[in-house]
Amino acid sequence: MPDAYEFFLQNLQRRKGLDLTGYKRPQMERRINSLMRSLQICDYNAYLDLMDKEQQHWRKFVDTLTINVSEFYRNPPQWEILQTKIIPDLLKQTRSLKLWCAGCSTGEEPYTLAMVLMMNFPKISFSITATDIDEEVLKKAASGMYNEKAVVNLPKSYLKYFTRQEANFTISDEIKRKVKFHRHNLLKERFDKNYDMILCRNVVIYFTEESKNYLYRNFHAALKPGGVLFTGSTEQIFQSREIGYSLVSSFFYKKVGSE
Ligand SMILES: C[S@@+](CC[C@H](N)C(=O)[O-])C[C@H]1O[C@@H](n2cnc3c(N)ncnc32)[C@H](O)[C@@H]1O
Repeated sequence: MPDAYEFFLQNLQRRKGLDLTGYKRPQMERRINSLMRSLQICDYNAYLDLMDKEQQHWRKFVDTLTINVSEFYRNPPQWEILQTKIIPDLLKQTRSLKLWCAGCSTGEEPYTLAMVLMMNFPKISFSITATDIDEEVLKKAASGMYNEKAVVNLPKSYLKYFTRQEANFTISDEIKRKVKFHRHNLLKERFDKNYDMILCRNVVIYFTEESKNYLYRNFHAALKPGGVLFTGSTEQIFQSREIGYSLVSSFFYKKVGSE
């Protein structure tokens, strides 16, 4: 017999189309309960009714659960490894890179990737697909408008790809054109294939072990042999060898062999 939380998840999926079963229960439950407490609601159904009636409560719910903070050039040492080792290695096989930022939030990560490539590898061609489960963050990503906080880690030389108006930074059309955003649920939808590199950073933190395993296996199938998965700075793939990755450098996993 499902308990109240499990009933809530079933209703959430039925009424709002959001499936949280692949996410860790304690963390999700704590966040949901804290939201409900702040609204003085103690019944899951009453909370669902409120979210149906008032869009801002649904928005707050999604924002709280997906936690979409991002910034340009997040974890600088990893971007340096990407630039000095990972990309040059990939370019030994091809001059045209097919790239995917999975869980891109408001776009800082795919735009960083585009800037790093434009600046340091001007002769190559590349395409970047950037996806997220949350439509609202994708709208912000497509607008390309950021504040000072978002660019704090970005080396100054990259600021030439923005126009600045006081504290507002707008990404140039040259960079915007390189990134295609669309909605995609990593735990539900099919993956495209033949990627040279997939970035999935700071996305799986609330995924259950089972969902992470499913995801890393699917990424493996979506990469070309020799393709690389770039993970977040706290995200290790424990079954990497078993899945068919070799560790190139911390947080960079290369697909070995063929499928
Ligand atoms: C903390 S942000 C990471 C942004 C960027 N990758 C970075 O490292 O700065 C996590 C993003 O993962 C997205 N996300 C969570 N679950 C997802 C799923 N099942 N499918 C696709 N995106 C998901 C969230 O909406 C959120 O925008």
